[in-house]
Amino acid sequence: MGEQLGDWKRTHTCGALRPEHVGADVVLLGWVHRVRDLGGVLFIDLRDRHGISQVVVRDEEALLAVAKRLRPEFVVGVTGAVQRRSPDTVNAKIATGEVEVVAREFRLLNEAKTPPFQIAEDTPVSEDVRLRYRYLDLRRPRLQSNIGLRHKIALGIRKYFDEHGFWEIETPILTKSTPEGARDYLVPSRVHAGEFYALPQSPQIFKQILMIGGTDRYFQITRCFRDEDLRADRQPEFTQVDVEMSFASETQIFDLIEPLIQRVFDISGHQIETPFRRMPYAEAMARYGSDKPDLRCGLEIVEVSTAFAESAFRVFKQIVTDGGVIRGIVVPGGNKYTRNQIDGIVEQAKQIGFGGLIWVRPGEPPTSSVKALTEGELREAIRLGQATSDDLLLLAGGAPEQTSKLLGQLRLAIAKRENLLNPEQFSFLWVTDFPLLEWNGDDGRWFSMHHPFTSPADADLDKLELDPGSVRAKAYDLVLNGSEIGGGSIRIHDAALQARIFQRLGISDEEAKLRFGFFLEALEYGTPPHGGIALGLDRIVALLANESSIREVIAFPKTATAVDLMASAPSPVDAKQLRELHIRTQK
Ligand code: AMO
Repeated sequence: MGEQLGDWKRTHTCGALRPEHVGADVVLLGWVHRVRDLGGVLFIDLRDRHGISQVVVRDEEALLAVAKRLRPEFVVGVTGAVQRRSPDTVNAKIATGEVEVVAREFRLLNEAKTPPFQIAEDTPVSEDVRLRYRYLDLRRPRLQSNIGLRHKIALGIRKYFDEHGFWEIETPILTKSTPEGARDYLVPSRVHAGEFYALPQSPQIFKQILMIGGTDRYFQITRCFRDEDLRADRQPEFTQVDVEMSFASETQIFDLIEPLIQRVFDISGHQIETPFRRMPYAEAMARYGSDKPDLRCGLEIVEVSTAFAESAFRVFKQIVTDGGVIRGIVVPGGNKYTRNQIDGIVEQAKQIGFGGLIWVRPGEPPTSSVKALTEGELREAIRLGQATSDDLLLLAGGAPEQTSKLLGQLRLAIAKRENLLNPEQFSFLWVTDFPLLEWNGDDGRWFSMHHPFTSPADADLDKLELDPGSVRAKAYDLVLNGSEIGGGSIRIHDAALQARIFQRLGISDEEAKLRFGFFLEALEYGTPPHGGIALGLDRIVALLANESSIREVIAFPKTATAVDLMASAPSPVDAKQLRELHIRTQK
């Protein structure tokens, strides 16, 4: 067992000592970071969240005997006097590097097992081990800095909304299913046999009801739960900065969020410019093959179908005849790529899902990977794509949407390969005018592209029944460097229109009543026009911390298979608990 802390009180953190403290008598408390034994002299680096201080033990036999027992990650207290280090031992890399503490007494507060990885060394450790021993990983500088940044950002966000008259209001965690498109996590009720709560996929319905309740301006930094396929930027539970505002237009939401983002970036030392660019969904899809284009690189998609309408290359001619398209990407400076480099890109295209990718080198004469393409066709494609003699033109054909989507992915793959994405640059974009609905062939019905409470554009209202696919929504996403960091919309505030949308979605009156009856009823009691947005806090912090996975900015994240490796969750529960919950499991 360790010694007691007793009456010792920390006078300084391990990161606080400076030359001005020379001569002071201090008490430091922390973890043993490193021990260096130079025979008669022992140096101990003592660490806490705030930094590292060097402690020296000299000459005194009794003290040396205690100090020699110290191992990395032991928890100790030390008293002693601060002295200036000799010039040759000053460590300019740490803030306390000009001074050291001459130990007078130690208290060994707790021992530690040998950790599965060293805290003091930045050696690579497998992520499973880091997650299993998260408390040790949390001691290392990377997570300390990320978690600290997250705190500062959350605090800045709260201050910002408070200054703008928003109230932070907690909405229920045990609630009813909200339609955000993922599966629900369900919680069985003990008291109501056979009934379940759903964990919220977002507070969407509640924040709208708050507007009906006269809250006027709401925000919440809140956890959302979605049972969906996980990726580096998705967790089963994640945090949203959720916002709703009465009497708001799209521009008002943009004008509220842009300075907020500016402030958040300022907190981490980045200056960004507002207003952000805006681009309708249709344009984003046409030019970049994505509804979240990364605008840090050009590599736009070009339409060159007309060059091949009568092509001698039968594959292209057939595609165009059948109503397909030939589209391409112009790679700036790509003409100087070696055959190997180009073969690498073609190989990558295959992995992305292209049946074939054809390259064209502008020049006199232009050349291509397909001999059947005539010089005239190549020249016309180069003209349409506005490729210069320095560029490389990559072509693919197929169904319009699919071809653009694949080219959109290829564009990013090339940008990464060729280092065209500057990590120091922050490129923001509002994608607007999303389609309200998308057709799902498997289910044979329309689905909301965002959620069913999103308002259609006023001008498209009368197309809702006749041409549902062409109806635009008052919906917007905020995109940063190709990552969707937020999404929102102006909502439907008219009960009749809401019912019409449910009808369009093939949700019967009965089902709508069962699932959202309380909300539909509330809509009828004087609902103000309103709208809002939710920002993905984990994604924003990850981008600012320059991390490629949101797991690096969450204290206790789950793996890609939704497992908490430290706590071992999910886990079986005992039969009694299941009985109480009226649940029988089935393998
Ligand atoms: P949406 O579903 O677009 O909108 O979510 C808002 C933002 O939350 C982030 N996000 C996630 N982050 C981590 N892991 C996940 N699994 C995950 N899912 C989403 C994204 C996304 O942009 N109720 C609406 C908002 C509204 O209309 O006001 C909503 O939830 O950054």
